[in-house]
Amino acid sequence: MSPQKPTILVTGGAGYIGSHAVLALVQAGYQVVILDNLVYGHRDLVEQVLQVKLIEGDIEDRPLLDHLFKTHNIEAVMHFSAYAYVGESVTDPDKYYRNNVVATLTLLEAMLSASIKKFVFSSTCATYGVPQFIPITEDHPQNPINPYGATKLMVERILSDFDVAYGLKSVRFRYFNAAGADPSGLLGEDHNPETHLIPLVLQTALGKRESISIFGTDYPTPDGTCIRDYIHVSDLADAHILGLEYLLQGGASEVFNLGNGNGFSVKEVIAAAQEVTGINIPVQECDRRPGDPPSLIGSSEKARKILNWQPQYPGINDIVAHAWNWHQKRHK
Ligand SMILES: NC(=O)c1ccc[n+]([C@@H]2O[C@H](COP(=O)([O-])OP(=O)(O)OC[C@H]3O[C@@H](n4cnc5c(N)ncnc54)[C@H](O)[C@@H]3O)[C@@H](O)[C@H]2O)c1
Repeated sequence: MSPQKPTILVTGGAGYIGSHAVLALVQAGYQVVILDNLVYGHRDLVEQVLQVKLIEGDIEDRPLLDHLFKTHNIEAVMHFSAYAYVGESVTDPDKYYRNNVVATLTLLEAMLSASIKKFVFSSTCATYGVPQFIPITEDHPQNPINPYGATKLMVERILSDFDVAYGLKSVRFRYFNAAGADPSGLLGEDHNPETHLIPLVLQTALGKRESISIFGTDYPTPDGTCIRDYIHVSDLADAHILGLEYLLQGGASEVFNLGNGNGFSVKEVIAAAQEVTGINIPVQECDRRPGDPPSLIGSSEKARKILNWQPQYPGINDIVAHAWNWHQKRHK
């Protein structure tokens, strides 16, 4: 019999990316405890689909964390919980610095008190700001242009300093645009409010929205619309298992981009959605939004090389088809 795999704490495990990572952990044989305050997470998905222990609470609650670490034999933490609305971070930065930085610091302090020193962190391509070159590699300068990106960069810096001072080993993943859904249709994206392109397009296909807005059709891109790097959420989840195992095997702290390496324009995403759904999706062409770079594409060569990560679903049609499968069930 193979030895039992360790227990992993997943903060934000009731949310979109966290729930897919929990599914991957369970499928890989890990024990999982989720800590989520359910501000945006979904209890029903944890209880009915994932069927792992959910502790409903806040990562800012130090006594709760101390109790959790005392009563569970946690080997490593995957930290997904955060606020992630870029626009809101501009209008209410306090909320973002408090939840994404201060609360994360509380979590890290509690971990160190309990001698837990392995940490997988959800960072973002928003830490790079406006790209100076494409594809963006991990050594691209980090100049975030909004408080959300700044909060994630601050945590990255904290993690570097905590490694030097306290030996906390971390894998920092800078995701590009997470998209799609578990291919089985059990899990998917259910943000409220929703700001991501693919779910908005699919909600339009379902008749929940009148039209999908295209912000800017005069960018210097082949069809004039913005290009983004969409990475399938199950591929992200797989990368988390590899990052965790890298740390469990004694790997040094590292940072990895997680993207597709392929960009798709807004018009290409809408065309893929029309093809997958067979529905004509009404669009409304609008002016550009301030702060949207024409193109954001990441290089994930480092994760492929060091973690041996191999994305299974790089095509936009698969990403949209899995999301559509989920949306039809969830939002009928
Ligand atoms: N979705 C993307 O495309 C994307 C891209 C880059 C980075 N990220 C990062 O990935 C992570 C997960 O994103 P997501 O799209 O799954 O978001 P999500 O909102 O679906 O999940 C976040 C979860 O964290 C929980 N949470 C928030 N604050 C908490 C707190 N203080 N204590 C306990 N639980 C708390 C929420 O209830 C939610 O379930 C975030 O850190 C986000 O910044 C996401």
